[in-house]
Amino acid sequence: MKDAKTRVAIIGGGPAGLMLSHILGVNGIANVVLERQSMAYVASRIRAGVLEYGTAELLKEYGLADRMLREGKAKNGALIVWENRPDFFIDLKKWTGKQMWAWGQTNIQEDLHDMLTASGAKMVHEADEVALRDVTGNPSVTYVKDGIQHRLSCDFICGCDGFHGPSRQAIPRDVRREFERVYPFGWLGILVERPPLENFTYAYHSDGMAMAAQRNPMLSRYYVQAPITDRIEDWSDDRFWEALLRRFPNDLASQVQTGPSIEKSMAPLRSFVSEPLRWGKLFLAGDAGHIVPPTGAKGLNLAFSDVFYLSRALCTHYLEGSDHYLDCYSEMALRRIWASENISWRLTKMLHIFPDDDPFDQRMRESDYDLLLGSEAAQKALAYEYLGLPFED
Ligand code: APR
Ligand code: PHB
Repeated sequence: MKDAKTRVAIIGGGPAGLMLSHILGVNGIANVVLERQSMAYVASRIRAGVLEYGTAELLKEYGLADRMLREGKAKNGALIVWENRPDFFIDLKKWTGKQMWAWGQTNIQEDLHDMLTASGAKMVHEADEVALRDVTGNPSVTYVKDGIQHRLSCDFICGCDGFHGPSRQAIPRDVRREFERVYPFGWLGILVERPPLENFTYAYHSDGMAMAAQRNPMLSRYYVQAPITDRIEDWSDDRFWEALLRRFPNDLASQVQTGPSIEKSMAPLRSFVSEPLRWGKLFLAGDAGHIVPPTGAKGLNLAFSDVFYLSRALCTHYLEGSDHYLDCYSEMALRRIWASENISWRLTKMLHIFPDDDPFDQRMRESDYDLLLGSEAAQKALAYEYLGLPFED
């Protein structure tokens, strides 16, 4: 057994784990990231590409926004289109005076990795059998690397290991309270090397939702709602384009530049929150503690707001000797998490076809959209939520 010591052990090297490591590093707080996968694997995962205002500001504050400012696109809002009803633009600029950014999570992951490598941060990739020990006493994390057993003793463990990681399971079953909705459909997504539509666009259609997203001037991402039981092989490119174009109004469909897909995948939709986010010396952040369906693109943004709260709590502990923010981390992070769960759930309900819905549900959905079309108060509320709530002091 090889023994080592650090202040903060971070399990998981996704965006949450790496951002936390970076902020702690900048503040001189020793930490180690333990990641089960290889760097190449982590870097290749394709995820959403909408950054809330607060996420973009956090990247700027920590020197990670150069490429976003150069190659990403500031956006004034997003478009909703609806079969046989007028279009609606979620006008962030008008209602909040702020913008969001079109910038892919894959790029952020790359920049974080480069930044951490350059600063000599400690990251262990391909760490097997990661296990959390004595999280309410003298915490440590054990793991196997290249066949050798290691023990990393620490003051705190931050579980940033996604939905399937071991950290959440280290909180006793009778302490944890889990809230969940699993949706009876998935998002079938493709990447295509063609110029994207101008706006992120969500389309409601009686066949199911469709969506247009963007990565860069020559890379587009499109999605269609599909039964979760469908296999990728069921969806040829031709079938995908036909479904997508039918769900978009003609004027927009005629602007979509189709082409061969360079990636195709099916994502299940789930809403999930585990409370509390703290147990002894263990803190959960990102997908380890909660999942949102992709409608609204809150996943990465929530991971970053958790990291903001958690890094502030750890910095205040080490640099100012106060545990105030550590003690309220779970409660404060959960307030924002529930707000994002709420908007993600409402947008998902409004924009998708649910197989078991009856005509009453359908009228409710239409009435939600009509309220948005007709009420400035509803428009302002949605803009505020889509932009992302401010972080609490
Ligand atoms: N040991 C070490 N690392 C692990 C383990 C384990 N046993 N289990 C999982 N991990 C790693 C995963 O390999 C992954 O790289 O934890 C990391 C978690 O990363 P993400 O799943 O990307 O989660 P997070 O960093 O919270 O980012 C949330 O990513 O999943 C999207 O939609 C989500 O955009 C959101 C964001
Ligand atoms: C994406 O960029 O892939 C994306 C954008 C907005 C969403 C979901 C996904 O709501």
